[in-house]
Amino acid sequence: MKKILITGGAGYIGSHTAVELWNAGMEPIILDDLSNSNEEVLNRLREITGKEFVFYKGDCNDSSLLKKICSEHQIEGVIHFAAFKAVGESTQVPLKYYRNNVGSLLILLEVMKEKGIRDLVFSSSCTVYGQPDILPVTEATPRKDAESPYGNTKKICEDILVDYVKSKPGIRVISLRYFNPVGAHPSSKIGELPIGTPQNLVPFITQTAAGIREKLTVFGNDYDTPDGSCVRDYIHVVDLADAHVKAFQYLAEQGSDFYEVFNVGTGNGNTVLEVIHAFEKVSGEKLNYVIGPRRPGDVVKTWADTTKINQVLGWYPKFSLEDSMRDSWNWQKSLG
Ligand code: NAD
Ligand code: UD1
Repeated sequence: MKKILITGGAGYIGSHTAVELWNAGMEPIILDDLSNSNEEVLNRLREITGKEFVFYKGDCNDSSLLKKICSEHQIEGVIHFAAFKAVGESTQVPLKYYRNNVGSLLILLEVMKEKGIRDLVFSSSCTVYGQPDILPVTEATPRKDAESPYGNTKKICEDILVDYVKSKPGIRVISLRYFNPVGAHPSSKIGELPIGTPQNLVPFITQTAAGIREKLTVFGNDYDTPDGSCVRDYIHVVDLADAHVKAFQYLAEQGSDFYEVFNVGTGNGNTVLEVIHAFEKVSGEKLNYVIGPRRPGDVVKTWADTTKINQVLGWYPKFSLEDSMRDSWNWQKSLG
């Protein structure tokens, strides 16, 4: 069984990807320092799959730990999820973000080179596009200046990968530019666990419906969009996880020194108010929300052109926005 090291594998997207890799006949080896996740996830993964996952608690900036993992397991590929992702915090402590998000990629690439590991899937973000001039966004859409140190770390990591592959180190790399991951595993055993007050829309919705937050504020309803609220492409986390499986299957068919970028979204844009209404429909809950001022720095509208990932990787999303809201709500309710 092909062993895949997943850095940040106890986190939101990593844990769902561990399940999908296992379902596809690959064995995930999880490395996580639990800085933004909980060891309980390992029990949940076992409950979902019936499989005991190999787990290393540690920092992926620790090259001796990475080498130890590679000497204990025949690692054939890596997914690099491990990163800090709080946009606001990244403006307060940018060096923490550059050190972890950029530094860990450099160390990982060096260890992969030393150990002869060829395949890497990197977690990038639609944030690299900023507010695109033309919609939907294709992979050829020019990237914009990053709005935050967090966003800049994703751009820098992409640039490092491009330069590195050009130097012919013998590796094959795919960067996946995720649009807005939402939802949870349909079993409700794993999902997103935001620490403190959520900054992202869907956890804020579910916590409001659960009575943890008093009300949701919609950040602006006077934009140039169908109902005035911002538009995003909300992708179910299980579909997103499946894109990583397809990425490895595709990498295995490529020659050395290969680099490609793919958007991962549904191809549809939804407004904030549409998301709220989808949530109300599937949950049967009336959400307490108010219209507030615009959030500084918000992109007005963005959604993915998914032609490339559809045609090249043969990947298509299976879950609808309503599925995402149902699974997010069931996950929230499971937390008690
Ligand atoms: P997450 O915080 O749930 O998962 C990241 C995991 O990495 C956490 O479990 C954390 O403990 C771990 N980690 C962080 N630094 C580490 C280190 N140095 N060593 C070992 N483990 C470390 O976040 P997520 O939402 O699952 O995001 C995964 C990746 O996808 C990140 O790179 C993120 O930037 C990227 N991404 C996320 C989104 C999103 O909205 N969730 C969107 C675009 C891109
Ligand atoms: C955020 C990050 C971005 C990251 C992306 C995917 C910022 C500035 N950007 O973007 O870097 O790649 O997540 O995870 O944080 N909204 C409300 N009320 C709320 C919360 C959100 O109306 O309480 C609206 C926002 O204005 C936005 C939409 O909901 O229109 C989605 O917001 P959010 O979940 O924060 O994601 P992004 O803004 O897309």
